[in-house]
Amino acid sequence: MTTGASLIVEDLRVNIGDKEILKGLSLTVKPGEIHAIMGPNGAGKTTLGFTLMGHPRYEVTGGSVKLGDQDILEMEVSDRAKAGLFLAFQYPFEVAGVTVANFLRQAVSAAKGEEISVWDFQEKMTEKMELLEMDEAFASRYLNEGFSGGEKKRNEMLQMALLEPKFAILDETDSGLDIDALKVVAKAVNSLRGPEFGAIVITHYHRILDHINPDIVHVLMNGKIVKTGGPELAMEIEKRGYDWIKVELGIADEAAEAQGVK
Ligand SMILES: Nc1ncnc2c1ncn2[C@@H]1O[C@H](COP(=O)(O)OP(=O)(O)OP(=O)(O)O)[C@@H](O)[C@H]1O
Ligand SMILES: [Mg+2]
Repeated sequence: MTTGASLIVEDLRVNIGDKEILKGLSLTVKPGEIHAIMGPNGAGKTTLGFTLMGHPRYEVTGGSVKLGDQDILEMEVSDRAKAGLFLAFQYPFEVAGVTVANFLRQAVSAAKGEEISVWDFQEKMTEKMELLEMDEAFASRYLNEGFSGGEKKRNEMLQMALLEPKFAILDETDSGLDIDALKVVAKAVNSLRGPEFGAIVITHYHRILDHINPDIVHVLMNGKIVKTGGPELAMEIEKRGYDWIKVELGIADEAAEAQGVK
């Protein structure tokens, strides 16, 4: 693994069609840090993730994103992976006739820019599957066989463990994960944790954060980071929801009007 790099998002503005979704979002994650992003539905959390992965639906109208000194927004999606960025929703999943093991070998070869031999890969995959306490049979399953949400998540986490990225962004909005799948996610993140690895974990609930222990928790609301704190902020949100933050920001009335309740 190469040395770590900060992810620096500055005044990021993103449109979907004519609608501005991210409205000047700024955030810096230093190597070695894990940040959680929480926020109400529709705040723009997934938009941030998809923008970082270069999804064509999201139009960047302003600001910048850097990983170390590399300008991420200028790069093709495949080059973003080569630069060490991992996005959990990066690859198309249902491919006929391809096993999990083959798919992952191709994904890792593509990200590293070199072909990895079947034997070397097998060894590494066995090691990572043991680490994540995954059933060996999983590797021989076919991608198009129909995976459950939790199985897709396990596949993604195995992929992340194998790629050993510099920086990972996980969108945990699909909170239908059982406790074992949640632990696989936590183990995968924790196994990479160290001075050269940074991550953003997007989540609605404190659950996953109990296992991952983020250094910093942000609240994303209305297209911006509006509040930043430590792990206790996640606990407070779980207890009190988001209205108190809107009141703090003086946007409570606006928010109520937008939702048609005032
Ligand atoms: N394909 C799309 N076309 C138009 N608007 C969209 C599209 N996708 C998302 N949006 C809008 O962008 C805004 C932000 O959506 P986003 O998915 O980023 O929210 P989120 O914070 O991830 O929410 P959740 O907590 O529900 O996952 C919402 O108002 C949503 O309606
Ligand atoms: Mg979302």
